[in-house]
Amino acid sequence: MKAWRAALLRFDEDGAPVYEDDGFLLVGPGAHGGQVVRAAGSWQALAAQYPGVAVEHLPGRILAPGFIDLHVHFPQTDVIGSPADGLLPWLEKYTFPHEARFADPAYASAVAQVFLDELLRHGVTTPLTFATSHPASVDALMAEAQRRGLRLIAGKVLQDRHSPDGVRDETEQSLADTEALIRKWHGQGRLGYAITPRFAPSCTDAQLRGAGELAAKYPDTWIQSHVAENKDEIRWARELFPDARSYLAVYDGFGLMRDRAIYAHCIHFDDDDRRLMKSTGAAAAVSPTSNLFLGSGFFDYEGAMRVGFRFGLASDVGGGTSFNPFHTMLAAYYVGREGQTKPGVSLAPGHLWWQHTAGAAAALGLDGVIGNLQPGCEADFLVLDPHATPLLSRKVTHARDLDELLFSLIVLGDDRVVETVVVDGAPVERLPHRSR
Ligand code: GUN
Ligand code: ZN
Repeated sequence: MKAWRAALLRFDEDGAPVYEDDGFLLVGPGAHGGQVVRAAGSWQALAAQYPGVAVEHLPGRILAPGFIDLHVHFPQTDVIGSPADGLLPWLEKYTFPHEARFADPAYASAVAQVFLDELLRHGVTTPLTFATSHPASVDALMAEAQRRGLRLIAGKVLQDRHSPDGVRDETEQSLADTEALIRKWHGQGRLGYAITPRFAPSCTDAQLRGAGELAAKYPDTWIQSHVAENKDEIRWARELFPDARSYLAVYDGFGLMRDRAIYAHCIHFDDDDRRLMKSTGAAAAVSPTSNLFLGSGFFDYEGAMRVGFRFGLASDVGGGTSFNPFHTMLAAYYVGREGQTKPGVSLAPGHLWWQHTAGAAAALGLDGVIGNLQPGCEADFLVLDPHATPLLSRKVTHARDLDELLFSLIVLGDDRVVETVVVDGAPVERLPHRSR
């Protein structure tokens, strides 16, 4: 067992932040072999109960849960920052040609390493990520995550139509490959599999039906896809599936909405769509930097909270512009504020942070497992240095309450603030912030 003494950020069952200026975090073996939080709270209340336990004292630092990226594309790591008129031209011009390169397992493996380095350097300890349509791209990423002991969820993309040579797959083979990958990787250590239809326009009815059958056969796998991101995409989906009530309802018709189903974007929804999200247990991966970069629109937080479906935050790299969770939280704040096309709301900093940690875990059905530092949670956490940069240091010194402290970090924070990343109870080798 080992303990840390520093400020401590956690979340209560209602998602409210709980903060100790002088906190105590005890980590030790859990029931399933990994390292978990054994006790968390104030130093004064807890330390005396654990005499003899080695304590790492980190004055001025904050212990916080590792961030969860609820939707990202590992093979788009190098697509980041590729501007286009909108989603569909961006896919044609940059994304599909680049993803075709992942037919080469050596290339996939090299990018998997870069991707996980980038996530960890920014304090993201669990991603839910797309691979490409090539099964070897899943093998490459899973193997690298396993080597690092990460909790990670990924899946082979399904896209058997409206996709160019090099990324288009074949219906029967794609479903057989998916099932083989589920059997190979799902539940291996901390790895999980996500059944991954790219989006309804790129999948035939037969492929979506097969994906839904696999989702029923393997009910604790995840499902990930895209929906209601862009007006042209929605028009196209409506033309291809004229009998569905809405674009979202297409997925429901194929058995692809249930607990552990994560839909990226969910921007252009009506209340029937929101109620469908809620009643099925599906969750939205809100991807604000991507939505701003590709001009897709603004996620309606007021609608989501009024109807009460689950959501969490995501980078959506490479449509998204940053692996940095602080940037994503700030963009979510901007998107929430937008009040011309939807009701504008001012999201509290603790709520933004929750969306990228405990809220994202709840969306995955992993509440109490990751995204928090309550007893029993897996020991994936960060040591943050709020004095890492000059202006941030000035700001936090004058912060009068937790909201001011967290908002300063959200507005000014970046990877320099992430001093140490602890995965399964052990610090990850420090990753450089400079390339040379
Ligand atoms: N819709 C279908 N594929 C993609 C993708 O790769 N990125 C985004 N943002 N939307 C998509
Ligand atoms: Zn995406």
